[in-house]
Amino acid sequence: MAWRDWVRTVEIEPSLYAADFTRLGEQIDHLLHAGARIFHFDVGDGHFIEPVTMGPIVLKSIAPMIHRGGGVLDCHLMVDNPEHHFEQIAQAGGNSVTFHVEVADEPWNTIKRARELGLGVGVAFNPETEVETAVEAAIGADFALCMSIHPGYSGQEFLPDSLWRISRLRKQLPSSLYVQVDGGITAENIADVRKVGADLIVAGSAIFGMEDLPRTYRRLVKAVE
Ligand code: DX5
Ligand code: ZN
Repeated sequence: MAWRDWVRTVEIEPSLYAADFTRLGEQIDHLLHAGARIFHFDVGDGHFIEPVTMGPIVLKSIAPMIHRGGGVLDCHLMVDNPEHHFEQIAQAGGNSVTFHVEVADEPWNTIKRARELGLGVGVAFNPETEVETAVEAAIGADFALCMSIHPGYSGQEFLPDSLWRISRLRKQLPSSLYVQVDGGITAENIADVRKVGADLIVAGSAIFGMEDLPRTYRRLVKAVE
């Protein structure tokens, strides 16, 4: 199945970074039943971003249950030398990889490598990176990811000028590519983010910070419909 086929107009992607790891399987199960389809999996190397987060071992253990439940894993690589990890991610059950334009010398080659492994591919850019740089680099990818926080941690505040950056991205990107947004999404700002053109909306603490995950997930979906 091509990456595009996973997207039903707009997708809210629970970011597992914010999950309760003592109950990871149970939380994923609840979200699958609530209708979540694309799960966001953050890989950090302690260099491109400060923390070391999760990697292929965790991915491999959760991929079967996500795939069985009709879901896919969207892997956000906040790492130097992203290509170096593609094969392991693919083998562990990842369905797409997103790399940062800030660490890609030849983005078209990095996209090609992901394709060779049968992975969907996104190109991410940080708040201090020009939107145009990302647009150029993302040609041939499935989506471009506008970071609405400085990458590193869950639970940060949405940077206000992200709305303007998302809308600029939407206008400049070919319509065949999706716009993804990651960082600081809340029940209050999610409709605005959708309005300016986001198709794939990542939400960490806005989902996992709440008691009732299915209800929270459905509420967010309602807010963008
Ligand atoms: C952080 C990660 C995000 C993070 C988002 O750099 O890329 O995916 O989990 O978490 P929230 O939605 O809480 O900002
Ligand atoms: Zn992320």
